[in-house]
Amino acid sequence: MAKVKKAYFCQNCGAQSPKWVGKCPSCNQWNTFVEEIIEKESDQKNWQTTSITPTISKARKLKDIATDELSRLNTHSEELNRVLGGGLVPGSVILLGGEPGIGKSTLLLQLAMQMNHLDVLYVSGEESEQQVKMRAERLNITSDDCYFLTETNVQKIFQQVKEVKPKVLVIDSIQTLHSDHIDSAAGSVSQIRECAGEFQKFAKQTHTSVFLIGHITKEGSLAGPKILEHMVDTVLHFEGDRNYGYRILRTMKNRFGSTSELGIFEMSSTGLREVSNPSEILLSQRDENLSGIAIAASMEGMRPMLIEIQALVSSAVYGTPQRSTTGFDARRLNMLLAVLEKRSGFRLSMKDVFLNIAGGIKVDDPAIDLAVVCAILSSNEDVEIDQKICFAAEVGLSGEIRSINHIEHRISEAQKLGFESIVVSKYNNKSIHNTKKGIRVVAVSKIEEVFRFVFG
Ligand code: TYD
Ligand code: MG
Repeated sequence: MAKVKKAYFCQNCGAQSPKWVGKCPSCNQWNTFVEEIIEKESDQKNWQTTSITPTISKARKLKDIATDELSRLNTHSEELNRVLGGGLVPGSVILLGGEPGIGKSTLLLQLAMQMNHLDVLYVSGEESEQQVKMRAERLNITSDDCYFLTETNVQKIFQQVKEVKPKVLVIDSIQTLHSDHIDSAAGSVSQIRECAGEFQKFAKQTHTSVFLIGHITKEGSLAGPKILEHMVDTVLHFEGDRNYGYRILRTMKNRFGSTSELGIFEMSSTGLREVSNPSEILLSQRDENLSGIAIAASMEGMRPMLIEIQALVSSAVYGTPQRSTTGFDARRLNMLLAVLEKRSGFRLSMKDVFLNIAGGIKVDDPAIDLAVVCAILSSNEDVEIDQKICFAAEVGLSGEIRSINHIEHRISEAQKLGFESIVVSKYNNKSIHNTKKGIRVVAVSKIEEVFRFVFG
């Protein structure tokens, strides 16, 4: 009988140690080491244990390597193509993380069925064939080339892969898989690392693209060792507020494209629908002007979108005023309030301030500062802002209005959506003159100037 080998693994970063330690020497987290069984050193740790002979790698000149092997596959989803940097790279491994019920399985099943010019194998360790079939029927897409398999054993999955020879492989989810080479339970650090490693080797050797679905922990990071994120080529995050139908797909890491891209989807009764004009959903429909609302011309990645900022300023009932935000950094709100207080003389220190970004999205673009300030002032003065004005500028610590990037994109998006004026920083002026006419660009340098323009 083979001797059972055990080792301790850090559940946070995947570091290995022969004995238990209280503090992980590599990531400095306390109490993260858990004993796991590793065994069978005699086994070949390779996805293709028998049939295919391994190719011998040879050093080649970079200029001799043909890139047409890498022409990207079209996923037939504009949003997904954009997030992946222009399509799916053959041989890449993509990790998709997200909270339970956010729509990871739906997104990838939809993808598997849309790519019907290629063979796709969808492997689920979580749902049965009938359950997936039911979901597929709901999605209203028909596909002739989508294979399905319920399996959790990696070696058995590879047996099926050899038969089907798919171009794209989807694994739902990496935490449910187990490999024969390792004896610890599915979902443990050593299992996740081993399984991901086998899929990575498989993807590189056969030029098959592999999607791995990953669960995330309570804290919001991907469950499993950090090393998992290093092993894959692309890490995508699927997020959204469950109370809203919108889902945002973000790139956290991408070896083949920019990480500033994002895709927006809407969950409907027939699956995920792509949202190609996000401003439409982010601007709430209203007939009358209300105080405390300002529109910011923001950018997410390379995508301009207009979002609505709502503020409520009221006298504090208790001694300490409350400051509460949704979708915006609370420290940044405090900073902006301090600037208004100190530099512009608005008395807000005894007021409760609530700030909300409509649509349930989170924004960290500094260019929405000015809209935040205007929403607060509008609520404080109880004077509404004209619905045809939007804002795009950062506010500095001395109350100065600072310039921001991609100003032309923001202006043309605002113009497209029918805004009549946009308030920007004076220091942006140089790059503005080549934008189209049809919208009034108001250049300002101080909060007082904005105040005078907006509230008369
Ligand atoms: P799912 O893809 O199972 O989430 P995950 O794999 O990330 O856990 O999505 C489940 C949710 O999506 C579920 O709450 C119901 C909703 N949903 C719809 O609203 N419409 C649909 O057509 C489908 C398939 C799911
Ligand atoms: Mg799922």
